Amino acid sequence: MLRIEGASKTYGKGSRRAVDDLTLHVEAGEIFGFLGPNGAGKTTTIKMIVGLLTPDSGRVLVDGCDVVHDPVQAKLRMGYVPDNPDLFDRLTGVEYLNFMGDVYGVPAGERAKRIESLLGMFELKGAIRDLIASYSHGMRQKLALTGALLSHPKLLVLDEPMVGLDPKSSHLFKEMMNGHCEEGGTVFFSTHILEVAERLCHRVGIIDHGKLIACGTLDDLKRQAAHAGVPGQAGKTLEELFLELTEGEDL
Ligand SMILES: Nc1ncnc2c1ncn2[C@@H]1O[C@H](COP(=O)(O)OP(=O)(O)OP(=O)(O)O)[C@@H](O)[C@H]1O
Ligand SMILES: [Mg+2]
Repeated sequence: MLRIEGASKTYGKGSRRAVDDLTLHVEAGEIFGFLGPNGAGKTTTIKMIVGLLTPDSGRVLVDGCDVVHDPVQAKLRMGYVPDNPDLFDRLTGVEYLNFMGDVYGVPAGERAKRIESLLGMFELKGAIRDLIASYSHGMRQKLALTGALLSHPKLLVLDEPMVGLDPKSSHLFKEMMNGHCEEGGTVFFSTHILEVAERLCHRVGIIDHGKLIACGTLDDLKRQAAHAGVPGQAGKTLEELFLELTEGEDL
């Protein structure tokens, strides 16, 4: 569903690669967690997936569509919630959702039903006619997610979706991710919350200094850590493995 093939990105002349020859495949129906220390390259990777940044080399395919060469087809298959949902402040919630529905060509009848059910789930109905400028951070997150889910995208890309959400909303986000996968969708999300990744993800990837240093199920990661010379991995949590794998890698 998602194929990142040798993608690299450098921001400015003389700076080091923010993402360095990254190859990563995510299968349809998977929830994939993308982990890594601050500044490791997660957001840069996500921006290359959704077409906000063009890789200097390598390529990204979404459901077989090249994000650079076939951007509209690739983007039609994706829903994206950025790390800081900076939505259009002067629109009301419902105007924003209709705008998203128009952009993705969601038919009116289906759109109304979907908006109704998503807003009910996220408890946003009361605020939907208010300007987005008046929304709290969590309300913006939930509205952005509603907009991203409106078109039933095959791939959902979320950059640190749980940041700033209250426990109930965070629970709803996790339920929604599970539900999306049960319906055959795929989720790629970055997070620092390792307990969530451990419980929710089929597989995780750890990026550090722009390079993928581990990838697989928790059991795969334990094997990889043991292979890297870290002894006694059997009962380790993801947090312990993460700390060991990224240990001593100062920025
Ligand atoms: N707009 C930018 N201009 C220049 N350098 C940037 C820019 N955005 C990111 N970088 C650099 O690219 C590297 C990767 O940053 P990125 O935002 O992808 O990290 P991240 O893994 O998302 O970190 P965090 O966990 O803090 O969100 C960092 O060294 C960062 O300083
Ligand atoms: Mg980031």
